[in-house]
Amino acid sequence: MTKDQRAFRDALGRFATGVTVVTGLSLDGAPVGLTVSAFSSLSISPPLVLICLDRATSALESYLDGQWFVVNVLAETQEDLASAFADVDGDRFAGLAYETWDSGCPILPNCLANLECKTEAVYPGGDHLIVVGRVTRSRWAKDGRPLLHYGSAFTGFTSKV
Ligand SMILES: Cc1cc2nc3c(=O)[nH]c(=O)nc-3n(C[C@H](O)[C@H](O)[C@H](O)COP(=O)(O)O)c2cc1C
Repeated sequence: MTKDQRAFRDALGRFATGVTVVTGLSLDGAPVGLTVSAFSSLSISPPLVLICLDRATSALESYLDGQWFVVNVLAETQEDLASAFADVDGDRFAGLAYETWDSGCPILPNCLANLECKTEAVYPGGDHLIVVGRVTRSRWAKDGRPLLHYGSAFTGFTSKV
């Protein structure tokens, strides 16, 4: 990474984000997933969200046109999941119990929200792809605090109320 790229990444790191694990199914039906902070709501009607995926993502085809994926929004107690799903070594689903809905993609437990999506469009975005998903089913928790990412580190949320 060049000095300019480092400075660019450091500047982007000043934008606090939530943290998600995006799960899907490989083309042969095995569960796949990775940690994603580049998630955004996009549209209410129709219900659309977007995620940005590195073109080098190992199971990239699992999330593209016509595929399904789930955005699992992590709670502050789930930093271990965020780390595991960003780690290139190890079986990310080892010992992890999960349910499935219509698509068969893993719905991770104890998340602040789970959004099941069908990929509707994919746009180029430099070394990433912008994947737009139509949300077909969602669930959210009334209680709990979000896991945040800021300045290259996981952090938490301090309520002012
Ligand atoms: C906090 C955090 C946020 C991340 N956000 C993204 C993201 O938005 N998009 C992405 O492609 N990778 C993101 N990553 C990196 C991937 O999770 C990581 O490179 C993962 O190993 C990719 O999956 P793969 O090894 O199966 O290719 C993030 C990692 C962390 C720790």
